[in-house]
This record gives sequence, C-alpha cells and structure tokens, in this order.
Amino acid sequence: MTTESAQEFYGRWARLYDLIARRTPGIAGLRQRAAAACRLEPGDTVVEMGCGTGANLPFLRERVGPAGTVIGIDFTRPVLERAREATAAYDNVHVLQGDATQPPVGSGGGGEGSESGTLQGVVEGDAIDAVLGTFVVGMLADPAGAVDDWCDLVGPDGTVVLANAARSREWYAPPVNAVFRAIVVLSTPPTTRLRYENDPHLQLDEKIDTAHAQLRERSVAIADETHVFGVVRLTAGRLE
Ligand SMILES: C[S@@+](CC[C@H](N)C(=O)[O-])C[C@H]1O[C@@H](n2cnc3c(N)ncnc32)[C@H](O)[C@@H]1O
Repeated sequence: MTTESAQEFYGRWARLYDLIARRTPGIAGLRQRAAAACRLEPGDTVVEMGCGTGANLPFLRERVGPAGTVIGIDFTRPVLERAREATAAYDNVHVLQGDATQPPVGSGGGGEGSESGTLQGVVEGDAIDAVLGTFVVGMLADPAGAVDDWCDLVGPDGTVVLANAARSREWYAPPVNAVFRAIVVLSTPPTTRLRYENDPHLQLDEKIDTAHAQLRERSVAIADETHVFGVVRLTAGRLE
C-alpha cells in the first residue's frame, strides 16, 4: 500500500472510521485493555503510532494522569484533526503528523511532525515508557522493522503493545472469519496492487504475524491475548 493511497483512503473516510473505531461492540473494552497492557504509571510518557482519530488517547491519558505525556502520531491529516478535537480538553495529549516508521519523537526522530519542534526537546528517546500500535502494523511495508524501531524507542523496562485484527483460530472461526474477510476487503484502500493481485486478508495476517513475532522476540516478558471472538490479537512485551 502506498503512503498516498492510505492517507487518501483514511482522510476520505475519517468520520465513518471514527464511528467504527469508537462504537464497534467490544472495542472500548479492548482499547481499555490495550492501555492497561502498556503498564503505565502516573507521570509516564506514552506514544501511540498510527493513532487515527484518537480513540485510544483518552484511555492512555487516564493511565498517565495530568503529570504524564501522551503523544499520538499519524500521517493522515483529517483523522488527526478529529483526534485533536477529541483530546482538546487535555493539555498533555499531543497529536503529531508524522510517519510511524520514522516517528518525530526520540533522539533519532525524523519526520514532518507539525508540533515536532516543541516535542523533540521534551521527549528524548529514553523518556518514552511505552509505545502502543493498534490496527496499524498491517499497513506498513516492513512491520517487523517498525516494531524493532519502536522497541528501541522505549526506555529500559519499557513496554510495546500491539493489537491487531486477524483471522480467528477459535473453533467457531468460519463464520467469524467470513465477516472479518468482508470487513478487511471493504476497509482496504482500493489500490489495484493490494486488492486484486494479492488476497488482502492473507497479506494482512502475514504482516500481523511477523510484527507480533518480532515483539515476542525482543521482549523479556510477554502477554499474549485474544479478544472480540478471537479476531483481535493483543501482544504486550516488556523490554530489558
Ligand atoms: C486502521 S487505522 C487505526 C487507527 C487507530 N490506531 C485505532 O485503533 O483506531 C490505521 C491508521 O494508521 C495510520 N497509518 C498507517 N500507516 C502509517 C504510517 N506509516 N505512519 C503514520 N500513520 C500511519 C493511518 O493514517 C490510519 O489512521
């Protein structure tokens, strides 16, 4: 998937995506669980990669409290505007435009973050306690490489959490997977390359497997869970 097609797709569907992101049955519980899995303390700093319309940000803010810092990064401007509106009440939640594979935070940070000038000085690499990525690694060209970089970004004893939808492995999987496949096809930017030359749900599964495997590989302690009828996989890894 090209950067342009993903940005165009999520930009055009920002309002609908926001509804799905917040209202899908079971999704709020999953987001709460993902925030809890980040093992945050009051005053901590957490970065969400590909934060979209910001549905996770209030749960992360709840964990770090008024003394902490929450940073959401996404490269699609219209979804970021929704994320900004949703978190306007908090002065310690920052939303940046930037590439999650070259995040505009930390000592090696690059990208075009619209607030990066101010945040670059505030958040150095070793000050990031956790990185969260929900429903995003499947969109990256090199998901394992990105997870590796996110692991490098969090400080010692930091945490990286991934949550992603992939085909269910439960006994009741066939009907759940049929619905999941339809959702993936409908929510995949209609680039000919992705939709017609490859089967999008198989390609997505492969990317997600690779990303979660890389996180397990890098971690000294791991929590692996499934949610929402086995369709959502959550992996939390504590680093050395
Ligand atoms: C399926 S949405 C998930 C949004 C959010 N994490 C959630 O749970 O609702 C994927 C988001 O990732 C963003 N995204 C994809 N690739 C990205 C990249 N390389 N850098 C920054 N954002 C990216 C898209 O713009 C989109 O908002």
